[in-house]
Amino acid sequence: MARPAVLITRRIPASVVARLEQACEVDLYDGTGGMSRNNLHARLAGKQALMCLLTDLVDADVMDAAPGLRIVANIAVGYDNIDCAAARARGIVVTNTPDVLTEATADFTWGLILAVTRRIAEGERLLRRGDWTGWALDFMLGTELRGKQLGIVGLGRIGRAVAARAGAFGMRVAFATLDADAPRAVTDDPSWTRLGLDELLTSSDVLSLHVPLTPATRHLIDRRAILRMKRRAYIVNTSRGPVVDEDALAWALREGLLAGAALDVYEREPETHPGLAGLENVVLAPHLGSATVETRTAMADLAARNVLAVLSGAPPLTPVVA
Ligand code: DGY
Repeated sequence: MARPAVLITRRIPASVVARLEQACEVDLYDGTGGMSRNNLHARLAGKQALMCLLTDLVDADVMDAAPGLRIVANIAVGYDNIDCAAARARGIVVTNTPDVLTEATADFTWGLILAVTRRIAEGERLLRRGDWTGWALDFMLGTELRGKQLGIVGLGRIGRAVAARAGAFGMRVAFATLDADAPRAVTDDPSWTRLGLDELLTSSDVLSLHVPLTPATRHLIDRRAILRMKRRAYIVNTSRGPVVDEDALAWALREGLLAGAALDVYEREPETHPGLAGLENVVLAPHLGSATVETRTAMADLAARNVLAVLSGAPPLTPVVA
């Protein structure tokens, strides 16, 4: 019997390719940059599985290029790049990679919080420019985190892991969930306070975003939301770029309506908003939240195990239920 075939849209660790090769024919795209749409169509034809990245748009059209497609395994926890309804209509399983990237992303979020509130990136830029004239009592003063409120928007796995680290910095945690049915049990710590989104916006000193990108969360943080925030507050986004209206953010930072922002994700990746890149009180990272060797390997490995499970007729390990 012919072995099932899987298309992988980008280089992944060799150990993961080897795992797949035990049971599948592997077609690995190893060009630089992403696969073009035409190439994706052409190479997906005849495949039973697709392992893809958050940068690959997998819509109905792509799925129809491979009538025998059984699984789309995203190597990411977010899956807004996949048309899940179209997959469901075609009986195609969609999987993502939750859990394995939670801790790395939470660590990185704290890196951004510290970088923006303590002006680390700004200070580094100044020093590299040769503009440091020496220690002074009032030089490049940042903001203390101790005693302040960390506002978490979206208390899923990553939001909880970010909140769990707040005690180390003396911050109290408040959170808002957008899902009215979110179980009360999600609060790992009884001291975390649940607030409505508006109240969270008005009371938080650092607002950290941890919601998936959906029609309901697109531009959740817009001009109106920002105007509710304290003028000394910071916004940190490690979720998805379009959750923040970048025009509104750039405007607010320029007008001094926020103290700063730290972003790992953007509305039009890999482009960055021109109004943000020139501001000293903005930290910009190139979507590195989960970028450790250990975590990225675990993500690829989990996607591969999902592919192998589905192709062998077993249930997927981490199906997307959308
Ligand atoms: C994801 O997995 O969705 C992240 O954005 C990349 O780690």
